[in-house]
Amino acid sequence: MTEMRQNTKKLFIKTYGCQMNVYDSDRMADALAPHGYEPTADIAMADLVLLNTCHIREKASEKVFSELGRLKELQSERRAGGADLMIGVAGCVAQAEGEEIARRAPVVDMVFGPQAYHKLPDMLAKAEAQRHMHPSLKRAVIDTDFPEEDKFDHLPAAKKEVTIRRGLTAFLTVQEGCDKFCSFCVVPYTRGAEVSRPVRQVLAEARGLVEGGVKEITLLGQNVNAYHGVDEAGRTVGLGELAYLLAGIEGLERLRYTTSHPRDMDDALIEAHRDLDILMPYLHLPVQSGSDRILKAMNRRHTGAEYLKVIERIKAARPDMALSGDFIVGFPGETDQDFEDTLKIIADVGYASAYSFKYSTRPGTPGANLGDQVAEEVKSERLWRLQDLVNAQTTAFHASCVGKTLPVLIERPGRMAGQVGGRSPYLQAVHLDGSTDLIGAIHQVEIIGTSTNSLVGRLKVAVAA
Ligand code: SAH
Ligand code: SF4
Ligand code: F3S
Repeated sequence: MTEMRQNTKKLFIKTYGCQMNVYDSDRMADALAPHGYEPTADIAMADLVLLNTCHIREKASEKVFSELGRLKELQSERRAGGADLMIGVAGCVAQAEGEEIARRAPVVDMVFGPQAYHKLPDMLAKAEAQRHMHPSLKRAVIDTDFPEEDKFDHLPAAKKEVTIRRGLTAFLTVQEGCDKFCSFCVVPYTRGAEVSRPVRQVLAEARGLVEGGVKEITLLGQNVNAYHGVDEAGRTVGLGELAYLLAGIEGLERLRYTTSHPRDMDDALIEAHRDLDILMPYLHLPVQSGSDRILKAMNRRHTGAEYLKVIERIKAARPDMALSGDFIVGFPGETDQDFEDTLKIIADVGYASAYSFKYSTRPGTPGANLGDQVAEEVKSERLWRLQDLVNAQTTAFHASCVGKTLPVLIERPGRMAGQVGGRSPYLQAVHLDGSTDLIGAIHQVEIIGTSTNSLVGRLKVAVAA
């Protein structure tokens, strides 16, 4: 009798870049699960390593090639031991550089962009066939097309036990790609045109997540608030209306979305913030610069004043709204005065947190052809000053929470025994003494102090009258 044995293989995915890549990595794991691939946290055990890459800044991109150098060594070790290692490069660098990666790093078996993830099992079969070829004939499998079919129609959903294992919070991509073409940004080229998933598909995925124990969903899109999915009746539904529909899912307790563009904060979405408790009062709304001249050169198509006006409207609907933002310093032509305008807008808004970057020239973007590049030392100096200001604002925001009672979704055991940790509505990490029985629900927590990047809380026990 021949022995039937399902041969499990180990998959290691290394994820760079934004939350969309984090989501995609899970979806790739889901696509490979039916083919016998199980995730491992130990790269040395892997039969297949996928690098899910980011192209947004030069440094992010370059990381891929240094990682491929290390993987080449790992592959040699595995082969010396009689085993093997397959290597795939996915994500935005794969999309942008395709063939170039295979040429620069022949160790790679597969190179494929974000729109090809549903074809991963097929590509893997092709790459495995290549294995048996003479090295001089071996070619990497490359797929950087933007196919007609919708990858989301073909990607399998995670099994319930997998969703349970992934935890109480989950990402859900509802919109992909970008039509905005900010002059510094590669996303419209690496992710393609803006596409929204149909409402039915989004709701079904959200229900599946909630059945798997998820309490908090973060809707994702490069321009998530430009979402315009169709419903069963063929009507176009915006993100505001989608939020109302998701709020109807029993068991879903928190909803977030990222990243938003100031131009797409429409009335329906702002009203949703007024009406829906499930929508968390924390919004990532990048402005990039406070100088109208630079905003124009960046092709953001709004002014600093218009951005402030949007924030005013949001705060009128939801007074406790906290904001986070993204900033680029040293865009070509940025003068001292332009930079002062950026500091000014930061001071005016008062952010709960912010991400800031030195401008990085990206090949193929309009910004790459602009003269008047800002010197590296000037960029560094501006970045430090900006970060000093933002850090002070973050510290002040954390401090303003002390003495308040906040609902905290308790997600995990804390760093120390007898402690648990979770997140406030404003996405702050909160630590408190308490039993692990608290995990899985939202509890009222009195904030009693702050520590670096987090809050310290005390469980508020309801006292019967
Ligand atoms: N869709 C989002 C941003 C996605 S990219 C939006 O419109 O705001 C994430 C952040 O990376 C951007 O907000 C920007 O601050 C930064 N970024 C993008 N391209 C960059 C570049 N070429 N150099 C430096 N930072 C960049
Ligand atoms: Fe990039 Fe601008 Fe699109 Fe954001 S809106 S992804 S910054 S092009
Ligand atoms: Fe990076 Fe692509 Fe996200 S370039 S930021 S991984 S969309």
